[in-house]
Amino acid sequence: MRDLSSLFAVRPLLYPPSLQYVTSPLSSPLCSCDLSFSTVRDLSSFPTVRDLSSLFAECDLSSLSEFVTSPLSSLSPQYVTSPLSSHHIAGSPHSVHILLEGYCRDVGVDRFQADGSVTLVRGPLTVLVDTAGPWSRDFILDALRSHGVSPEDVTHVICTHGHSDHVGNLNLFPNAEILVSYDLWRDGSYVSHNFRSGEPYLLPGGEGLKVVPTPGHTGSDITLLVPGTTLGTVAVAGDVFEREGDEDTWRELSENPEVQEKSRRNLLGLADVIVPGHGPPFRVIRAGQEHVTS
Ligand SMILES: [Fe+2]
Repeated sequence: MRDLSSLFAVRPLLYPPSLQYVTSPLSSPLCSCDLSFSTVRDLSSFPTVRDLSSLFAECDLSSLSEFVTSPLSSLSPQYVTSPLSSHHIAGSPHSVHILLEGYCRDVGVDRFQADGSVTLVRGPLTVLVDTAGPWSRDFILDALRSHGVSPEDVTHVICTHGHSDHVGNLNLFPNAEILVSYDLWRDGSYVSHNFRSGEPYLLPGGEGLKVVPTPGHTGSDITLLVPGTTLGTVAVAGDVFEREGDEDTWRELSENPEVQEKSRRNLLGLADVIVPGHGPPFRVIRAGQEHVTS
């Protein structure tokens, strides 16, 4: 049998020391994605790992599986994520509809274009999470109209943080309670709520809709949690996550990466779907949930 120590040359590719979760395209079943997706499953069931095993043809595959999985087992919790192609998630009592998929793209040296995701939550309450930049005013009104929602129908506007590509159309919803970061405004006055101590805010009449503080990108980011959808709990998270697989960018955009890292971990531990600020929604599949289907 070949010396298993040769696997150390492969392990960094599989498990960067800081990696707590991995991602995969939704269009591909987990078992056919690239090598990194074999982290939370029985490795012996993955064709890619079988391919890898050919590099170590003299190794017993079960030994290979045990060897590769054991370092990861010390990391808890474990996740994979995968893109969610649909912008509509049915649910009861509330469904989730992404009206605008946020984006960020370079358009020159030191210049980029960006807009934040805009999400409509419909049910007993009609909630708009983030309002994009002012340049998207007409797009948002048209998108709401396509759902049969007028600006007057919106009961709550929740802005995940105060950046201009998330708060640009606050003035369009005359009947809404407005929550921008930790500032809660209702019926003509500001209402105190202790987000800074981590206290969640249950929307009155929201049947489980809950806003939780998720700081780090700024000092006072918030996330709306929508329970009871067909995919589980949806976290509309703003720029806590720029997009799926954003390890290359989120820290440089963060006011406090250490705090944001904690917020990210918290959401990865409780959300089944995350709507990021500047990319498509994605699913979170924790260890033990590998058989969840799309
Ligand atoms: Fe932002």
